[in-house]
Amino acid sequence: MKMKHLVITLIASSGLMLFGCSEQSGLSRSPTANPIRKATPNPSPNPTPGGQGLRSLTKNVYIGTAVAAPVLGTDPYSAVLANEYNMVIAENVGKMGAVEPSEGVFDFKAQDALVSFAIVHKMKMQGGPLIWAGSIPGWMKKYQGDTAKLTSIMTTYITTVMQHYSTRFPGVIIAWEVVNEATTSGLGVFAAVPNCVELAFQTARAADPSVALFYNDYGDESQTAGNTTKVYNLVAALKQKGLLDAVGLQSHFGTHNAPKMSAIKTTMESFGALGLDVYVTEFDFRLPSANGLTPDNPNDVITQGTYYRDYLATCMATPNCKQFITWGFTDAHSWIPGFRGWGAALPFDADYNKKPAYYGMQGALVRTAGR
Ligand code: XIL
Repeated sequence: MKMKHLVITLIASSGLMLFGCSEQSGLSRSPTANPIRKATPNPSPNPTPGGQGLRSLTKNVYIGTAVAAPVLGTDPYSAVLANEYNMVIAENVGKMGAVEPSEGVFDFKAQDALVSFAIVHKMKMQGGPLIWAGSIPGWMKKYQGDTAKLTSIMTTYITTVMQHYSTRFPGVIIAWEVVNEATTSGLGVFAAVPNCVELAFQTARAADPSVALFYNDYGDESQTAGNTTKVYNLVAALKQKGLLDAVGLQSHFGTHNAPKMSAIKTTMESFGALGLDVYVTEFDFRLPSANGLTPDNPNDVITQGTYYRDYLATCMATPNCKQFITWGFTDAHSWIPGFRGWGAALPFDADYNKKPAYYGMQGALVRTAGR
């Protein structure tokens, strides 16, 4: 017990050793940005009188999580979610396969329930992904190669979904993930749409000019991950056309591919120099785990804690990093055990106990006074 507390204290208190000079960069900020699309000073501290949680420690950076719809509304899942976070994204129910399960039939029920939860608990949301090869519904296969039809399916989908939320729940979804993984997974059948990525962003901009639009991918986080340059070129072109506000760094890491924080900071700053914000959109840090729930080596949670701390601290120390989202928060509901031999990637264990990862995040926020 004593040892556990010592470790937790060390992780939390050594917070920003690497990033003490938080304002060292001379980032050129976007002078023309629409102020509505930029994150406002965090309006979402814990609404419960005396309420604590990570959300009470931040001023300008949203702290969020992906939400597993099937357990929303059950406790302790919902109670922890509401207490700790001020931003959510649907883990799966905002994807096209769920939202347009058959042609022309839109099903918003599950994502609407999350929006309602966010409203009650004074949270903001990311919406989407709108276009992702990994969530193309089966009924679209028959239109393979049919350029005109695919173009109309895509533009109708983006407009219908975004306007559903901007009209029914104005101001809740403040950022849309318009395209996910175009430079890694490709675009699936949508690849037949001429200028697909740009058209998706144009359509999204027209559907709701007041929200932030972002491009999301993996392997774009550090300079060595292989996808940084491709994403840089793509987003630079979109930004130049006024179609993009931010880049999402998925940030799925683990003991096998732990990044260097200096490289993460360089990446964030390089997007900042283009006038773009950065969101950490899917952070998790997987550990070798035979059962998917507990680490094979109990000491790994300490290493994990330092990465949670340093990644969030890097975001906090980089002025254009505005949202920090983990891909779930409890090991009881995580996509990581789907990778055989891996698990225990999130800040709460499967029994909702706080792990060193949680205290690492808390320490990073305390050290930066929430920026
Ligand atoms: C994952 C979900 O977590 C899983 O439940 C689902 O089976 C597949 O998708 N990158 C992304 C996310 O952008 O949408 C993915 O989410 C994880 C990888």
